Amino acid sequence: MKKAILFLLPVVLLCSACQPKKHAEESPVLVSTDVHSFAQPEVAVVKHLFLDLVVDFKSRVLTGSALWDIEVKEQATQIIFDTRDLNVLQVLVDNKKVDFVLGDTVPILGRSLAVPIAAGAKQVRIDYSTPPDAAALQWLDGVQTAGKQQPFLFTQSQAILARTWVPCQDSPGIRFTYDARIKVPAGLLPLMSASNPQAKNDSSVYSFSMKNPIPSYLLALAVGDLEFRSLGANCGVYAERVSIDTCAYEFADLHKMIAAAEKLYGPYRWGRYDLLVLPPSFPFGGMENPCLTFCTPTILAGDRSLTTLVAHELAHSWSGNLATNATWNDFWLNEGFTVYFENRIMESIYGASYSDMQKLLGLDDLKEDLADLGDTSADTHLKLNLQGRDPDDGVTSIAYEKGNLLLRLIESKVGREQWDAFLKGYFARHAFKTITTEQFIAEYQQELIKGDSALAKSIKIQDWIYGPGVPDNAPQLSSARFDHAVAEAKRFMTGTPAAKLEVKGFVTYEWMKFLSTLSKDLTTQQMKDLDSVFRFSKSGNSEVLFGWLRHVVESRYEPAFPVLEHFLIHTGRRKFCKPLYALMLESKEGKAQAQAVFLKAAPNYHAITRNTVAEMLAH
Ligand code: BES
Ligand code: ZN
Repeated sequence: MKKAILFLLPVVLLCSACQPKKHAEESPVLVSTDVHSFAQPEVAVVKHLFLDLVVDFKSRVLTGSALWDIEVKEQATQIIFDTRDLNVLQVLVDNKKVDFVLGDTVPILGRSLAVPIAAGAKQVRIDYSTPPDAAALQWLDGVQTAGKQQPFLFTQSQAILARTWVPCQDSPGIRFTYDARIKVPAGLLPLMSASNPQAKNDSSVYSFSMKNPIPSYLLALAVGDLEFRSLGANCGVYAERVSIDTCAYEFADLHKMIAAAEKLYGPYRWGRYDLLVLPPSFPFGGMENPCLTFCTPTILAGDRSLTTLVAHELAHSWSGNLATNATWNDFWLNEGFTVYFENRIMESIYGASYSDMQKLLGLDDLKEDLADLGDTSADTHLKLNLQGRDPDDGVTSIAYEKGNLLLRLIESKVGREQWDAFLKGYFARHAFKTITTEQFIAEYQQELIKGDSALAKSIKIQDWIYGPGVPDNAPQLSSARFDHAVAEAKRFMTGTPAAKLEVKGFVTYEWMKFLSTLSKDLTTQQMKDLDSVFRFSKSGNSEVLFGWLRHVVESRYEPAFPVLEHFLIHTGRRKFCKPLYALMLESKEGKAQAQAVFLKAAPNYHAITRNTVAEMLAH
């Protein structure tokens, strides 16, 4: 599985002696290895996919074919795909059946699929089906949806789960365009990370097209009883009928976010930008599937206060989907840049006092993860080494928040104007390409540092990227609104009753800060006071409720246990589930409670959340 992805020109394949010198100098070849894929793109690589699938809810199976246009080197004898738990039925090369070889199962990675090819081979067709428990797929019964009637299916391909529903070269360094034909049961609408239908048709067969080259982790499909509502010239939202009005209200500022993003870093390159609001078992907050962000319904707060997540996924249309991390070790290039960009979008629409609170909450997340990981751990480096591990291990606030902090530091040292010009150029230069951490550093040196050693020393980029923890030159920030929220939390802890606190006008972020400041060992009396005055247990805001439920677990506040259990059974968003189970596991009674809740909740969870929690409970 060792192989290389070649960037720029593939001149490395030619012997250097027979290369014109001019070329060798002009074309520095950057080689990056993706340890999470079996593919050997330097030998034979995919270019275009035609995906033809039938969605069967009864058997919970996708059946059909992946027809790949490929490009092969003259000496190639095989092309290698990634698969995991797929039933490969037959493989055809240029319409002729061939003997394919499925390798042994490798933990985390699955099985390589080697297809013999001769020079000049153009197309590989793989006929296959998925097992009912394919890791990327979640099949939901009607009762698990908002409308309670029709079933639902959605995929989650990032990081390396695309191979569990499409045989593909599953590396972020390999891009392809795609078309698809999807057949679904009558009454359901399929949607993809591509051009999408806005209404159901009579044939129940739908066509899709993605004309920009994308990496496999951005392949996505959802099927449900969905409706569309326009929110502007090129944006809108899909959701189940019962929640479409709520969604349209919540995301009314979507067009403003797109305009703000374009003003900052250049044109949106994907045609339409729509949102799809999924059932509550969606394991993430959001997923930046091109043209169609998938998101959790837990951001429907009723007051538009959790829409930062939309700004985040929208920002990925540049950082991630245009300029893509070459391997999962470079994940911070996707997420750190996106958190930075998201924050700039929010600042430009809602002002700095709002986006500053968001930055500080991010910093709190970072501190929590640093404490968990230990601040000398290699997992706190921005550049990771995930060889032999699941890329999921790299999904911590290091990539997101330490990454963001570094970019803010650079901005503060070179000035916003220069930094913005750099970023705009960065997205344009790397559009539809992959980028390594080392390429980024080289461009930073060339375009921003330009030999100014004092400037370089004030940033110390190597320490940030290849060193642990947070270096001591991190940018500092304060927020008067948060200072006040913290002061009120402290007043409560020193005896001021809840009703006497000055919380008038608090928005979601201030409540979050207030809750996270309260000590972990509140008395039953204090908990009761807080809940009777602020009605936290009844909050319709998932972040506020989550902040409250942490205290419910920590102080073992029994009156709110039914709320805690209901939340965990009906919400599969891992960011909420994981910390609540972790807190429960800290006490003996809590452990029994965690096990009992998980028994009821597990059937509702996507495999991503289910596996995470199961692993925690097993220890
Ligand atoms: N691309 C990520 C989600 C992801 C990362 C899935 C790695 C699988 C592997 C998405 O953009 C994301 O960051 N989601 C966050 C949103 C938040 C930071 C605003 C989430 O789901 O919590
Ligand atoms: Zn993200």
